[in-house]
Amino acid sequence: MRIQDFKTADVKRLAEERNRLVHTFGALAELGQEVSNKQNFQDTIRTSLHLLLGSLGIMRGGVARYSQFGHELNMLALRGLGETFPLSFSLCYEDERQFLLNGLYPIEIDHAKVLPFFQVYDQSFEKAGLKQFIPLIIREESVGAVFLGAKASGEAYSSYDREIVCAMARHIGVAISQRNMMAELERHANENRKLYENLRMTYNDTVKAFAAAIDKKDKYTEGHSVRVGKYSEIIAEELGWNEHEVEGAAVAGYLHDVGKIAVERKIINAPYRINAKESAELNKHPGVGYEILSPIEHPYADVPLAAKYHHERLDGRGYPDGLYDREIPYIAKVVNLADSFDAMTTDRPYKRRRPAADVFDDLQRNCGKQFAPEIVHALFRGMYNELTGENKDKRFRRLLGREYMEAEGIGPTLKNALNGLGSIKPITLMSLD
Ligand SMILES: [Fe+2]
Ligand SMILES: [Fe+2]
Repeated sequence: MRIQDFKTADVKRLAEERNRLVHTFGALAELGQEVSNKQNFQDTIRTSLHLLLGSLGIMRGGVARYSQFGHELNMLALRGLGETFPLSFSLCYEDERQFLLNGLYPIEIDHAKVLPFFQVYDQSFEKAGLKQFIPLIIREESVGAVFLGAKASGEAYSSYDREIVCAMARHIGVAISQRNMMAELERHANENRKLYENLRMTYNDTVKAFAAAIDKKDKYTEGHSVRVGKYSEIIAEELGWNEHEVEGAAVAGYLHDVGKIAVERKIINAPYRINAKESAELNKHPGVGYEILSPIEHPYADVPLAAKYHHERLDGRGYPDGLYDREIPYIAKVVNLADSFDAMTTDRPYKRRRPAADVFDDLQRNCGKQFAPEIVHALFRGMYNELTGENKDKRFRRLLGREYMEAEGIGPTLKNALNGLGSIKPITLMSLD
């Protein structure tokens, strides 16, 4: 066909067609953008409905969301449907089946009266002037529906209009489907969070019960594991560890002596200094503890290592492996200090507990030999902050007793110790073998 064969009417029709296409693409692009915006879901649906109505010159309509629990359609947005228009519609099995079979295509309400849904709500639809009903079927699932009234021009819906309606309704359906998926994900995440919380609480309760059981075996050092757990927790906090790591330090302290379960009660409870043979037996408890704890999957990875190495010393003179400074897991160094601090500050069958000044002095002198200076500093700081009232928790007071914490001169002595420790740098000893 040559260009001069076009009649003016054809040219005009083509121009109108082109304008309509440009307009439709514009509306679709806008709708797509609207749907992908992460703003309020209700607003998205309301704006999408207005765009759909506006692009085809439709005066009234609405969007509903399908609830598979209630088997109903609940209105999310409506325009021009009147005050009495229902906000919720019940669906029967046959309605749902037919909508799924129909797919995302407009159903002419006047021609669909055979379906129970259109019979039951006939009057409401007629009163609101509704003409088209589009089930929103996305990935073969019902997610909602779009209701549309007549076109303002009074013309019937053309096949072209119906295609535009389908394309735009699909956008709305995808927005609802995404929202449903997000809600489902959030529900699962919440469930998992609750499950994890329960699990963590159960684990922590079990650990505490276990610590109390270990402590029962040792009649002279009652509450030792529990106290070591609490001191380890305070030290970890002072070292600036995060919440999870602080919890891990507490658990490591609670369980550090679990291997004592396998040591004979008479050795643990000997009211005298034990001999070399008994001592060798007792010294097996870190290794046994590791064997007990390592098959368990702990939320805090280093718990078994803390049990195994809590009697190692920085200078390599500890046991069971005689590790040096950097070879010792950090958590084991924390538990080692907590353990020693408790041993010094509680009565033993053959030895009274030592006064605070004496303990501070001992810990300070052993920095770099047995203890890491910054860990001792953390313990002292925790205690000092409580004495000065900077930390309102009375944890040391509960653990050591009021009398001990209120001993004369404890504050200045502790301050001196803290100052003294500031000048001690961690030393690193080299293994010669
Ligand atoms: Fe121990
Ligand atoms: Fe211990």
